[in-house]
Amino acid sequence: MAKKKEEEEVEEQEELVVNVGDDPEYTIDDLPGVGPATAEKLREAGFDDLMAIAVMNPADLADQAELGEAVSSRIINGARKMASIGGFLSGIDILEKRREVLKLTSGCQSIDELLGGGFETKSITELYGEFGSGKTQFSHQLAVNAMLPLKEGGLSDENDPAHVFFIDTEDTFRPERIRQMAAAKGLNPDEILKRCHVARAYNSAHQMLLVDEVKKAASGINVKMIVVDSVISHFRAEFIGRGMLANRQQKLNRHLKELKQLSDVNNAVVLICNQVMSKPDAMWGDPTKAVGGHIISHASAFRIYLRKAKAGRRIARLVDSPNLPEGEAVFSVVEDGLTD
Ligand code: GTP
Ligand code: MG
Repeated sequence: MAKKKEEEEVEEQEELVVNVGDDPEYTIDDLPGVGPATAEKLREAGFDDLMAIAVMNPADLADQAELGEAVSSRIINGARKMASIGGFLSGIDILEKRREVLKLTSGCQSIDELLGGGFETKSITELYGEFGSGKTQFSHQLAVNAMLPLKEGGLSDENDPAHVFFIDTEDTFRPERIRQMAAAKGLNPDEILKRCHVARAYNSAHQMLLVDEVKKAASGINVKMIVVDSVISHFRAEFIGRGMLANRQQKLNRHLKELKQLSDVNNAVVLICNQVMSKPDAMWGDPTKAVGGHIISHASAFRIYLRKAKAGRRIARLVDSPNLPEGEAVFSVVEDGLTD
């Protein structure tokens, strides 16, 4: 019966179809044949943007969103018309787009060199390492640095100061630490703290909702950096066992896609912190690797592995990057922040 109702809903709305161009503002609620009930089903199944639907086949969408196959087919056709499936860009266009990318300084020359100048906007950078390796310190330092003017390696515009958002899952944001680091850079600590926006994420669903909150905030202020520390702990704690893995990865994938979009739209740095798991079968090298699987490694353009070394030093290793060689840089965490 539910199915019948749904078909009716489709029929009713079918007449409202107008000629739609490829306007990126469209959402699944604008799809022909999708009323609130169907939209809800699609969202529940994780299909909350047009592109996600456009690339499906009807049988799979029907199965996953619990819709009729005919309905799915129509929805997919609608999504294909409305989503900007995009085409090919020339290398020159891509180069032009790349010119907008800014590089945020870490404040350590060796790390900036490792990264070809600094942390890039419009992409996700993953920091991973064991507890105490410096991920949270790193995120605090980058947040402070983002407040610096562009000409000093920061992301602040003269007339439009940078704002940084922290999605904090582990309750490790420390305003005192931001103040210390800001003072060390000659910045006004309270002014900097005002431009740090922090939300404690209580579970993975909340964590994902907070991305929407950043999106909303970004219409009024210059969002230049988003930190998610840590990106996976809630997902790991909530989705336990093999049976939950596919579901977890699907949600995580959506979360990362939304973060990537935020970085693109705002020309901002997205920094995600990730844990490591022990890899007891490793015969040599460091017996740890990042958790989260391919979803996280593919979503992150840059992956940096942090580890502790002798005499309080720490090593940052660039593990993966689209255009830079692998390499390492040594740094320390001191009162003033990160240093060479
Ligand atoms: P987890 O979140 O537990 O996985 O660790 P993490 O990788 O986030 O580590 P974090 O960035 O919290 O690093 C903690 C380390 O930074 C501490 O063990 C200290 O060695 C160092 N640290 C933190 N604050 C200060 C400080 O004010 N002065 C100095 N000298 N070191 C500090
Ligand atoms: Mg931490």
